[in-house]
Amino acid sequence: LPAEVPIRFVAVGDVMVDVVCAQLPASGTRAHAEVSVRAGGSAVNAATAAAEAGALAIVVGRVGSDPAADLVEADLRGRGVEAHLGRDGERTTGAAVALGADTVVAHRGANATFSPDDVPDPLEGDALLVSGFVLFQEGSSHAGTAALERFRGDWKGLDLASPKLAAAAEPGIDDANVVLATAEEALAVTGAAPERAARSLAARFEVACVKLGEAGAIAVQGEQVERCAAQPVPRRSPFGAGDAFGAVFLVALARGQPVGRALELACQAGARAASGAK
Ligand SMILES: Nc1ncnc2c1ncn2[C@@H]1O[C@H](COP(=O)(O)OP(=O)(O)OP(=O)(O)O)[C@@H](O)[C@H]1O
Ligand SMILES: [Mg+2]
Repeated sequence: LPAEVPIRFVAVGDVMVDVVCAQLPASGTRAHAEVSVRAGGSAVNAATAAAEAGALAIVVGRVGSDPAADLVEADLRGRGVEAHLGRDGERTTGAAVALGADTVVAHRGANATFSPDDVPDPLEGDALLVSGFVLFQEGSSHAGTAALERFRGDWKGLDLASPKLAAAAEPGIDDANVVLATAEEALAVTGAAPERAARSLAARFEVACVKLGEAGAIAVQGEQVERCAAQPVPRRSPFGAGDAFGAVFLVALARGQPVGRALELACQAGARAASGAK
């Protein structure tokens, strides 16, 4: 694709309201600290990172019929992200509270009834990222399958999302041609340590990526193995590093970048999100 034609990137996954505070106060105390309220969830985080990378970014998911849903839509408009959101009449918009770098309370809300009716048909784009939270959980799995089936572009990425979900739901994941896994998810699916796991996943997917947190990531395409060591940053936000990583990786592949360069750009985006950059 010529450089002036923007890549169309579609993120299919959770859509939430995130309430984020960088501090975790001791139980029973009352703290004063900055608290932000914003759109989040895997699909929103991925689409935001893709938009920042210069792509035309689209979020496909489901929210409630409440003021939280309006907040999400307004926030996405402000970020230049296009939204295709089904509206649930009963369930509330999903919400997550993060305190410090690794304490989270999450409620899936309307994400749990994300359905094929919420997914455009056909689904136009150059690169797609489907979250395992959608594909591997009852209630939303048909929406994930529909997205993979309806997508018309070349690059179909799947993030395995959680070791437990990925291990249990393994059949059916081959509709994607790019797989993104953490070391734990890769171990759950292949039984192997990161590099061997990545090679083994690359036998089933065109490109396999294993994310290693502050140690960076590995990508394998065919026989080619690429490694990228991250510049470790202190983690301030528990959300979004993996989502930004996957989005930027897929956008780079859709732009025709070689896997090694895509990996490098993805690691930079992951580090930015981990550091809590907005
Ligand atoms: N502390 C960090 N310092 C530098 N880079 C990081 C850090 N944390 C994450 N990254 C980058 O982001 C990528 C994705 O993060 P991670 O490996 O944690 O995946 P994930 O578990 O799917 O994401 P998340 O933790 O956001 O759910 C890593 O491969 C790495 O490149
Ligand atoms: Mg992680």
